[in-house]
Amino acid sequence: MNTVIGIDLGTSTTEAAIYRDGKVEMILNLNHEAITPSAVGIDDEGNWVVGQRAMSQFILSPENTAIEVKRKIGTDDLITIGKRAYSPVFLSAKLLEFVRNYASEYLGEDVSNAVISVPAYFNEIQRQETIAAGTQAGLTVERILNEPTAAALSYGLEHMDEESHILVYDLGGGTFDVTLLEMFGGVLEVKASAGDNKLGGKDFDEAIINSLIKDFEKANGVNLRNDRHAMVKLKDEAERCKKALSTDDSYRILIPAITSIKGQPVELDVTLTRKAFEKLVKPLVDRTHSPIDVVLSDSGISAANLDRIILVGGSTRMPLIAADIEAYLGKAPDVAVNPDFAVSEGAAIQAAIISGEIDPSEGLVMTDVNPYSLGIQCVNNFNHDYFSVIIPRNITIPASRTERYFTYSDNQTEVSIKVYQGESQIASHNNELGDFILEGVPPRPAQSESIDVTFSYNLNGMLDVKATIVSTGKDASISINMQNQEKDDEDVTVSYDNWKDSPISDDYRAIIRRAERAINHMSGTNFENASLIENTLNLLKNAIAEDDSDKADDYENTLIGLLHQLED
Ligand SMILES: Nc1ncnc2c1ncn2[C@@H]1O[C@H](COP(=O)(O)OP(=O)(O)OP(=O)(O)O)[C@@H](O)[C@H]1O
Ligand SMILES: [Mg+2]
Repeated sequence: MNTVIGIDLGTSTTEAAIYRDGKVEMILNLNHEAITPSAVGIDDEGNWVVGQRAMSQFILSPENTAIEVKRKIGTDDLITIGKRAYSPVFLSAKLLEFVRNYASEYLGEDVSNAVISVPAYFNEIQRQETIAAGTQAGLTVERILNEPTAAALSYGLEHMDEESHILVYDLGGGTFDVTLLEMFGGVLEVKASAGDNKLGGKDFDEAIINSLIKDFEKANGVNLRNDRHAMVKLKDEAERCKKALSTDDSYRILIPAITSIKGQPVELDVTLTRKAFEKLVKPLVDRTHSPIDVVLSDSGISAANLDRIILVGGSTRMPLIAADIEAYLGKAPDVAVNPDFAVSEGAAIQAAIISGEIDPSEGLVMTDVNPYSLGIQCVNNFNHDYFSVIIPRNITIPASRTERYFTYSDNQTEVSIKVYQGESQIASHNNELGDFILEGVPPRPAQSESIDVTFSYNLNGMLDVKATIVSTGKDASISINMQNQEKDDEDVTVSYDNWKDSPISDDYRAIIRRAERAINHMSGTNFENASLIENTLNLLKNAIAEDDSDKADDYENTLIGLLHQLED
């Protein structure tokens, strides 16, 4: 079997690791560093630069550099570099391609298989887009692994004989994840997972920046926020200051000519103490409490029954974090894993289990939880778009559950099953995963025919949904691959195929055919344009599937523009 590496594709930094010769090893980049900044840019000559080189040019030419791309994954937002806008998938692919290249160099073989970690709180769309980025980078993504589960794996490998309840607290650059696991006899079982997709080190930097901007405006009557270069310098200094305050009591921020007022350069000179900084960011740290409460209550394990608290992510280096955890949970965190490497190490361990490098019979079996509720849309007297949950969030997978439903109208002969993932009671506010129709319901008065709907979710990420007419036994089903986009033959309508069912689909058939033809002609030769067109095409198909003709028109125009450029 091929070598499979583990990749922690982070908001701020990216790491890769491999399990070989019986241990985990960090893979070093071309600068011999284990940590690579998650930055992508275009240099003066028009070449792509990634990692430290991109980070270094960020301060000089922020308009040609993208950072924190992970925050945009799963959204329609485009990121502008130079004169063009790129999708988060495309830029993540650039990062992964960079990792793939340095890993191949380091290992002396062509690396083409990987396990990639994502925040536990990532939804299905964010996971699919991470896989898409891997694929575009030439990687076969063997598994998407939750980051805190990965961290626990790296801890578990060293402490296989322990029996304990472990809380993994992961505060990185952009996301906060908390996961509760139970370990016994070499089995690592995830009990519950929660988090905040919009909380991380970046927000701590932002808190410092905001306070600096406010004081500067008070003193000089100028709002630095309107000055892009000043903002980049501020961000750089704010992060430096934050990191320094993890070890020092105070830090002087001195930026000589941050801006000019009436033609005169003006400096910024502020000293921030750790105490003042901690006061500034206390509200952010408080936001970690509610996800902690959620995992404790969802898993039914009290704070008093926690044996270990493991800290992961660069932001846990702030002394305030350990202090806050101890105050909130009555227990001090352990210093048991390397906060920067634990996630990629765990991904490498999962990779080794997949490649057979680690024999699963020797221990380290892992069960995971389902991070979002899964269910179907149904109709009741009050609501035609009600979300009926079949597998609730934080249920240990594999899991299988059945719910019974009744016909809604007289002589109803078919039922439409729409599968969603999310926490909103309104079905369509959640993520739609697929749908199918079960025909052949005997025509009878409303409520007199019943339908059983069964969801089965296995560890490999397959969700099987089956609907059965109870009186006749006739059934229909769908398999949704929650781990990658490959579809079963029986698959009805998942991913980008369901646009064809939309009433507005005819209006866009021509442009879709044109774009698909263009992609086929280009593939392999013009990676960048092909993936830009492909991304836009997928967005268009999604908009059509949602019957959103305004959105679809926008994407159609973008596509026409892109195709036009090509033909020029
Ligand atoms: N000594 C330190 N003190 C405080 N913060 C730090 C320190 N070192 C790193 N950080 C912060 O940690 C963050 C990066 O952490 P990490 O590399 O774990 O995140 P990531 O994996 O890229 O992000 P995520 O997991 O959220 O996607 C940055 O915001 C950085 O400023
Ligand atoms: Mg991380």
